[in-house]
Amino acid sequence: MINWEELKHIHVIRKLQSILTQWFSTEVFFVDERGVIRNFDPTDRQREWKNPLAAEYVREKTRERFFKHVSEMNEAALKSNKKAFVAKGPSGFEQVIVSRVAHGNDFYGTVYAFCYLDHQVDPAEKAQAKTLLEGWGADWNAFDQAFSKLRVLSDGERKYLAELVDLVSEEIVTYHTEIASRQERIDALTNEIGNRYSYGNMIGKSKPMQELYGLLEKIKTSESTILINGENGTGKELIAKAVHYNSTRKDNAFVTVNCSAFNENLLDSELFGHSKGSFTGAVRDKKGLFEVAHRGTLFLDEIGDMSPTMQVKLLRVLQEGTLTPVGSTDQKKVDVRVLAATNKDLKAMIEDGTFREDLYYRINVINLVVPPLRDRKEDIPVLIDHFIARGCKEKDIPLKQLAKRSMEKFYDYPWPGNIRELENECERVIVLAGDDKMVGPELLSTRIRDHGENSKVQGVRVAGKLKDALEELEMVMIKEGLKRTGWNKSRLAKELGISRAGLIMKVEKYGLDKRKLMRQAAAAAAAANGSSNGEVA
Ligand SMILES: Nc1ncnc2c1ncn2[C@@H]1O[C@H](COP(=O)(O)OP(=O)(O)OP(=O)(O)O)[C@@H](O)[C@H]1O
Ligand SMILES: [Mg+2]
Repeated sequence: MINWEELKHIHVIRKLQSILTQWFSTEVFFVDERGVIRNFDPTDRQREWKNPLAAEYVREKTRERFFKHVSEMNEAALKSNKKAFVAKGPSGFEQVIVSRVAHGNDFYGTVYAFCYLDHQVDPAEKAQAKTLLEGWGADWNAFDQAFSKLRVLSDGERKYLAELVDLVSEEIVTYHTEIASRQERIDALTNEIGNRYSYGNMIGKSKPMQELYGLLEKIKTSESTILINGENGTGKELIAKAVHYNSTRKDNAFVTVNCSAFNENLLDSELFGHSKGSFTGAVRDKKGLFEVAHRGTLFLDEIGDMSPTMQVKLLRVLQEGTLTPVGSTDQKKVDVRVLAATNKDLKAMIEDGTFREDLYYRINVINLVVPPLRDRKEDIPVLIDHFIARGCKEKDIPLKQLAKRSMEKFYDYPWPGNIRELENECERVIVLAGDDKMVGPELLSTRIRDHGENSKVQGVRVAGKLKDALEELEMVMIKEGLKRTGWNKSRLAKELGISRAGLIMKVEKYGLDKRKLMRQAAAAAAAANGSSNGEVA
């Protein structure tokens, strides 16, 4: 079943509709499989009709006749083996275009574009229409005026019109099948991975997270050092804690030190301690964090920021299990398990000479890679549930729920700031929702709410040359399709209903080079990331 109500939010469809009304004065109706118009509400008196005849037909007296015609056309489309066809309108001399909304053997309904003339109407035809319409109880004068305002389309224009109407129905199918396959993917994954939603405080049921949980289970009794790699905000610290609290050291200290937060000298004394008088301000002996973490775990966060001298010192502790506090000559023995994390590419740093290779192999005995949120979108719903439930509990307010449309926005957004950004957004909408139980899309930060809009279609023109407007639309649809299908040209060609060779020609024509588009996407994501700072309430 198609969610017809959602279509008004789909930017491409909206743009196509606006081109159709602006250029051809046609009203675009979505008709479901039972023949019912889904985007017209008879009680809506505000609706502006671009087509004067549509405005007349939907008045009370003639409305049933009009609906009957729409329904008959739908029936004809169901039986037709053509994608689209031209038919006579209700009075017999206006014309309509009907395009099937179908996928495989499934018929979902039609797009019904109403209406235009294919020739100037002569008085005899008018007389005929007058008799018919007056018989239905219509106000002939109003209809006569409406007829005179209809556009008479040339052969070429009718062809464009038909193509555009077809595009609308294709977009509906694409949108629908995408949503359906997305849901199927989520369902399949849910079945496949059973019911492990969390590990310690970590939430996630996606395949990468399941693999991570499996690995964490396996290394529970290990004493090895671990290197955790992952982008910002992916949960590196959470994993380090999970490792510690599942290990045999769990009853002893878990100590975190952020290596990038100190300059070299301070980090030195922070990690290894100092003896009284070893430098100005060292008024007494101070234990280093290695000693504090004795028998426990020391988590070295942002290890890629450690200076070369500190790297040497750290290596010595790891190799010998002894350390020398700053300003002291005594060696101290410590029993500490080290975990380290970084978002930097340490291998590349080794090549640049900024990270020691021997240290790298010392800490990278076991390597855990945390996938970014965009690679495990299946986790988004459970994470949202978790953060919203936690937030509402903390604030002692009734549980809130994300509207379906908001959930889709969350799903489509690329989350450059990862889980932390998602967490902040959940906190923010709980507050903004006030007393409302449902969190609607209007409450989301603009970068999330408008993400799809901006990247889908920008500035399809509705004035100027029709050919230019169509080319622009074609370019945008191909560009978005390429991104959506991961540059699967065969699939996209099928979706667009053109040959693969035809698609390749168009890709070349519009210069839609993969690397160029990737660069643009990365820049857009970086910009979205940057703008997030000011927005989180
Ligand atoms: N799988 C998860 N389940 C629930 N919460 C998570 C998960 N991963 C991360 N978080 C939350 O997201 C936030 C960021 O996580 P964390 O600080 O562990 O990430 P990080 O990789 O260390 O980030 P940074 O690179 O900024 O240091 C935290 O508030 C954490 O609780
Ligand atoms: Mg961190």
